[in-house]
Amino acid sequence: MATIRSVGVVGAGLMGSGIAQVVAQAGYSVVVREVEQRFLDKGISSVEGQLKRAVEKGRMTAQDMAGTLGRMTWTLHLEALKQTDLIIEAIVEDLNTKQELYRALDRLCPPATIFASNTSSLTIMAMAAVTGRADRFAGLHFFNPVPVMKLVEVIRTIRTSEETIRIVYEFAKSLGKEPVRVKDNCGFIVNRLLVPYLLDAIRTLEAGVASVEDIDKAMTLGCAHPMGPFTLVDFVGLDTTYFIANIMFEEYREPRYAPPPLLRKMIMAGYHGRKSGRGFYDYTGPAPVVTDLGL
Ligand code: CAA
Ligand code: NAD
Repeated sequence: MATIRSVGVVGAGLMGSGIAQVVAQAGYSVVVREVEQRFLDKGISSVEGQLKRAVEKGRMTAQDMAGTLGRMTWTLHLEALKQTDLIIEAIVEDLNTKQELYRALDRLCPPATIFASNTSSLTIMAMAAVTGRADRFAGLHFFNPVPVMKLVEVIRTIRTSEETIRIVYEFAKSLGKEPVRVKDNCGFIVNRLLVPYLLDAIRTLEAGVASVEDIDKAMTLGCAHPMGPFTLVDFVGLDTTYFIANIMFEEYREPRYAPPPLLRKMIMAGYHGRKSGRGFYDYTGPAPVVTDLGL
């Protein structure tokens, strides 16, 4: 079985930076690629902040932190990924953008390099199909926040080889994660169930049933969820949730996946959730407060 030593991560946003961090913490060398320096800088400061916090809390030594950061290379050049054994893609949830990236990576990388997408909702086969390595192409779906969430969905397409699945499954375990095997389908396991719930919360708000705060309170205190649905949508990103809903609705044509009008309007207003400073809550002050949406 091929051995993974070095890993490429494409995208240093919410997910890419977290994935790169846990991969480097597990001892692999990691090359992280972004399209603009300001996004790269944001990824670097996020990882440094997480590691510093771990040292302060006594969960990591300063030496381990230095070692982890030393194994990470940050770049704007795709060519820097050429020598990696496994490439994990965590860029924007848009099929055309991902396909364009995979075409370029396929031309660049040696045949043995395995590609894995962290997509939330796209069918993995739709990306594998534009490469000449569909047998070495799988889904590795991590959860946000990556350093904390234990699950990784390992997705096999109708073309992925069993050897590739074994390699990426063992790789996920080597990160200290709990992998589950899933067949290639839009939304895999978690988002098939989670996304309709999040969209229903927005529809419940649109219907005037209760306030953002009370719906969140109901689901945290009534169902022991760690976050209410609006806190969670803000955490995932309203833009990403909107892209996911559109992809799932396109695939299944079921109303439960349709993005609610309020979500679309919030995207138009530039409210992308916690990462942009405002979503259903406003994060610009000392503590989050509910955004006035005039409802
Ligand atoms: N990155 C890294 N670590 C983080 C973090 C972050 N963004 N946020 C919190 N943590 C860590 C903290 O450091 C803390 O660890 P220590 O106690 O060792 O310091 C631990 O998590 C708990 O944090 P807090 O005490 O601050 O807060 P909490 O108890 O409320 O937990 C949480 C935070 C783990 C995020 C929790 O609220 C939670 O589990 N929320 C739900 C997250 C969830 O559902 N994620 C899935 C999203 S869907 C998805 O990812 C799939 C998709 O395709 C969209
Ligand atoms: P994000 O918006 O935080 O980050 C995406 C990053 O990709 C941006 O920084 C952008 O500059 C970068 N990018 C775009 N094109 C690129 C390219 N060609 N090369 C390198 N970088 C590029 O998004 P995110 O939340 O990190 O989501 C990334 C992927 O992970 C999506 O497919 C999403 O569906 C999936 N995902 C998201 C979550 C979540 O909770 N947000 C959870 C699991 C999976």
